[in-house]
Amino acid sequence: MRYDHITDLIGNTPLLRLDPAVHGLPRVQLYAKLEFFNPFGSVKDRVAWGMLRDDLAGIVAGGRTLIEASSGNTAKALRILGALHGVGLRAVTNRIKVTEVRELLQLFGTEIEELPGLSECPDPTTPNDVYSVIEATMARSPGTYQHLSQYTNEKNIEAHYHGTGREIHEDLARDGIGGVDYLIGGLGTTGSTRGTATYLRKHNPELRTIAVVSERSDFVPGIRSETELWDVGLFRPDFYDRIVPVTAARAVDATVELATGHGVLAGPTSGAAYAAAREVLAAETAGDGPPVVAVFIVCDRLEPYLSYLRKRRPDLFGRTAARVPAPTAAELAAVPVLSPAQLADLDATARPTIVDTRGAMAYRIGHVPGAVNIRDDQLDDMFAQGIPFSRSRPLVFVCPVGDASTRFAALARRAGFDAMGLAGGVVAWRDAGRPLESAPAADLRG
Ligand SMILES: Cc1ncc(COP(=O)(O)O)c(C=O)c1O
Repeated sequence: MRYDHITDLIGNTPLLRLDPAVHGLPRVQLYAKLEFFNPFGSVKDRVAWGMLRDDLAGIVAGGRTLIEASSGNTAKALRILGALHGVGLRAVTNRIKVTEVRELLQLFGTEIEELPGLSECPDPTTPNDVYSVIEATMARSPGTYQHLSQYTNEKNIEAHYHGTGREIHEDLARDGIGGVDYLIGGLGTTGSTRGTATYLRKHNPELRTIAVVSERSDFVPGIRSETELWDVGLFRPDFYDRIVPVTAARAVDATVELATGHGVLAGPTSGAAYAAAREVLAAETAGDGPPVVAVFIVCDRLEPYLSYLRKRRPDLFGRTAARVPAPTAAELAAVPVLSPAQLADLDATARPTIVDTRGAMAYRIGHVPGAVNIRDDQLDDMFAQGIPFSRSRPLVFVCPVGDASTRFAALARRAGFDAMGLAGGVVAWRDAGRPLESAPAADLRG
C-alpha cells in the first residue's frame, strides 16, 4: 500500500478478535480496536488531526504556536503534525510521571511547562490548574498561541464518531454483526468513549458503555483516577453505564496478558480496559444466554511505559521488589508535625536538613529557605535503597499540604532518624507570612 502523506495513515485501524480460549469468556466475542496502528502511535492522532486540520493554514499564516493541556499522546501527535508545518507546541501539563513520555516530547522539541499538580486532567479545584495557566499565558501574549483545547473541543468527539465508532461498526457489519453490546475504554478527555459510543448507539441503542479509571490515589498514565471525575469539559458522568476503577497492579498484569496471550503490545491504559472488560463481562454474561459482542479501545503501545512497568513490578524485570512497606497508622500518628513558627525556630537553632518533596517547578517558584528539592517519587526510590541523609541533624520534610511529608517522616523515623513534617506544607508556611526562597531556572543550569 502506498501513501502520499503521513496524515493519510491516521484512522482505519484494525479490529482484532481475541481468542475466547485465552480471555476466558465463552459467551463473549471480544474485540480490541488497535489504535496504536495510528502513525504517531496512539488514539490521539485522530483527535490532534481532527482539531488541527481546518485551522492549520490560519495558524501557519499567523505564525502562532500551539498550546495544549496534554502530558502525552495528544502533545506527541500535535507536536509532530505542527512540526511538519513549522508550527511549535507548548504543552502545559501537570507533572509528567512517565520518563519516556517526557523524553519523547523533548526529543521532538516540545516546549514543556510542567506544573506541580498530580492530576491526569484539568482540576477545577486548584488555582494553578492547567487550563487557568493556559488562559493566563494566552492573555499575556495575545495572538501568539492557538489553543485547540482537547478537553472542551467537540471535534475531539467527532473524530471518534466519524472515525473509531464508524470503523468498528462497518468492520463488524461486514461479518454480519449488526450491533455492539459493550464498549469499554479509559477516561481522559472522554472524547474516545463518547464519540465511539455515540456512533455505536445509533445501531444498538442498548449499547452499554463502560468507562475505566484508575483506583483512588493510584495512577495509570493517560486516564483519570476515581477521585478526578470533575464534571468539566466534555465529560458527562451520566453518559456512562458504569465507571469501573482498576488498580495499577491489575492494569500491569493485564498489560502483560494482552502481550503474551494475544500478541497485543499495548500500554497500561489498554491493560486497564482489558481488565475492566473481563471483570464486567464475566459478571454480566455468567450462565446461559445469547452471545455478546464487546469492543475495548487499545490506546497506545507498550514500549514508552517500560519505566512505569518496572517501577510497579520490578520482579518482572528480574529485580527484587524493593518497595518499603507503607507506614502504619500508628507510625503516621507518631510523627511530630511542626508549625511554621516551630520550623523557623528549629532552623535557627539546630540546622535541620529540610527536604522539599514537590516537583522542580513548584520548588523553583518558592520554597522554605535552605530546603533541598528531592521529588516524592525520587525519594520513594531512594528510601528503597536506604535513607541518604545525615543522622546528626533533624530531618524535616515539606510537601504541598502536609500529607506526603508525614509519610516520609514516618518512614525515616522507622529507620531511626529524628524526622518530622511541616504541618500544612508550603501553603501553611506561605500563609503564615514566612519568607519563600526562589531558584530561577537559570541558576539550576549554571
Ligand atoms: C494512553 C491513553 N489512554 C486513554 C486515554 C483516554 O482517552 P480520552 O481522552 O479519549 O478519554 C488517553 C488520553 O490521553 C491516553 O493517553
